[in-house]
Amino acid sequence: MSRNYYIAGNWKMHMTRQQAAELAQALVNELRDVSKHRYLIAPSFTLLETVSAVIEGTNIRLGAQNCSPEEQGAHTGEVSVLQLKDLGVQTIILGHSERRHSYKEDDELINKKVKLALKHGFEVILCIGELLEEREAGKVEEVCETQIVKGLEGVKASDLSSIVIAYEPVWAIGTGKTATPEDAEAVHAFVRKVIERLYGEDIASKIIIQYGGSVKPDNVKELMAMENIGGALVGGASLKIDSFLPIARFS
Ligand code: 13P
Repeated sequence: MSRNYYIAGNWKMHMTRQQAAELAQALVNELRDVSKHRYLIAPSFTLLETVSAVIEGTNIRLGAQNCSPEEQGAHTGEVSVLQLKDLGVQTIILGHSERRHSYKEDDELINKKVKLALKHGFEVILCIGELLEEREAGKVEEVCETQIVKGLEGVKASDLSSIVIAYEPVWAIGTGKTATPEDAEAVHAFVRKVIERLYGEDIASKIIIQYGGSVKPDNVKELMAMENIGGALVGGASLKIDSFLPIARFS
């Protein structure tokens, strides 16, 4: 049985407008006829308008990497969901480990953003994942469960079709260390169980759970072969056409 996957590129804080336009255009050209998977790219705020113009009307969705927890107003340095919508953004990545750990975002703040994004009709990719010391202390499930339960607090079952979970073990991000497919699968299966407890079997069976953390052309296939892994959230390898394409087109 062939499965459809949700392959996303998180460009993080990289690229200028020209580089972004070139990469987006190359992806549009190369992925045009690949209807198999679902695609998303998430550039920095300053690149959204440029990339939006290139990918509008194609099979690549536009994502943002963050948003303000407030709708609008006196919030210097923040970007509003209304502004993101105006640029054609469809999906917002929230709770990324770099936001959690480098910028001290806690579950409460992330939950506020999740609810605001859903209220404005965005799809949300909610990132979760444990630190190396938490894994070593046997706390993977506890950490992931807390991040899911608190991140989705007050989110209605009817909104779950707009939620994607990305499991990104922090120790695997940007390090070249990937979770083994079996370790990743174990956490993905656990995530699905948590969703089942919160929202029931039907929703749990449908939710997409992406894996992120050093996904590369040479490991994508074995990761995606796992039963509960429904896609990839790719950082470093999404910045070059030569490394993202083989991931996006894997079969
Ligand atoms: P890398 O693929 O560079 O490890 O980054 C993963 C990530 O953080 C995607 O959001």
